[in-house]
Amino acid sequence: MAKGKKVTVIGTGNFGSTVAFILAMNGTCHNIVLRGRNYDVAKGKALDMSQAANAARQHTVVKAGKGPESMADSDLVVITAGAPRTPGMSRDDLLIKNAEIVKMYAREIKEHAPEAIVVVVSNPLDVMTYVVLRETGFPRERVLGMAGILDSARMAHFIFEKLEYGAGQIRATVMGGHGDTMVPLPKFTTVAGVPIEDLLDSEEIGEIVQKTRNGGAEIVNLLGDGSAYYAPAKSTLVMVEAILKDTNQIHSCAIMLQNDYGYSDIVSGVPVMIGAGGAEKVIEMALKPLQVKRFKNSVASVQEMVDTLEKQKFFDN
Ligand code: 2OP
Repeated sequence: MAKGKKVTVIGTGNFGSTVAFILAMNGTCHNIVLRGRNYDVAKGKALDMSQAANAARQHTVVKAGKGPESMADSDLVVITAGAPRTPGMSRDDLLIKNAEIVKMYAREIKEHAPEAIVVVVSNPLDVMTYVVLRETGFPRERVLGMAGILDSARMAHFIFEKLEYGAGQIRATVMGGHGDTMVPLPKFTTVAGVPIEDLLDSEEIGEIVQKTRNGGAEIVNLLGDGSAYYAPAKSTLVMVEAILKDTNQIHSCAIMLQNDYGYSDIVSGVPVMIGAGGAEKVIEMALKPLQVKRFKNSVASVQEMVDTLEKQKFFDN
């Protein structure tokens, strides 16, 4: 247990609540502040979770945060706030709406939790991570987006569905933006160390890649009024724990690229070593020409959204 750590979770919807709940159940930190637009809802959920922590014999305390001051001294802030995707809506449709929300919280974090590491999970993920970086001015090590872990978990699930064995032993790798242009990497995907290219033919792998790209939308369409939250919340927890426990493990995360994979000043998902300082090191993999091309395409789609915000004079700095 990381002693004395404080985590603020912004957003009390299914996603934010589930992140806070798993944190409390695992006893990952001492204090959790749950912030949302409706203080009574945040208070009710915080009480419920604190009582659940007692049932779980954990001493994590969950409190509702009334204003931005409640974030003071946070070691880590998770931003889940934003409008959810609804059926037929792409992650990109959410761009302007969520950029405004995320910008407001980024400014509050800069003022009230200036030392915090920020994990961004609002969509469109890569652009929202970029917005937080621009608005806080924090170094890139301290602003990470969650998505690669989720997309990799989805790919692992679809591989299991196809193979019908190996659950829990599948290590999938996905890089690029968290959107339709994400880049699942069969070359770096194994089942108990066995490359999937030795276990499945190219048509089967192609099907898995497509299902992975569509993984979020599939759940949005089934739920009818919101997006997935169990796998996204657990994936966020993997990052939070890597930071609070200083594990130095490698996970695919969205980060501001600075001379990485040939790009700078744009956010995309790449393998990153995560520890107490946040994103401590970007890991460069040797990509095949087709993967290089797909990654380029993915980076370009994030750049296009950043350009849209720039054209609207969204950024003040
Ligand atoms: C997803 O892919 C919400 O972006 C999230 O399910």
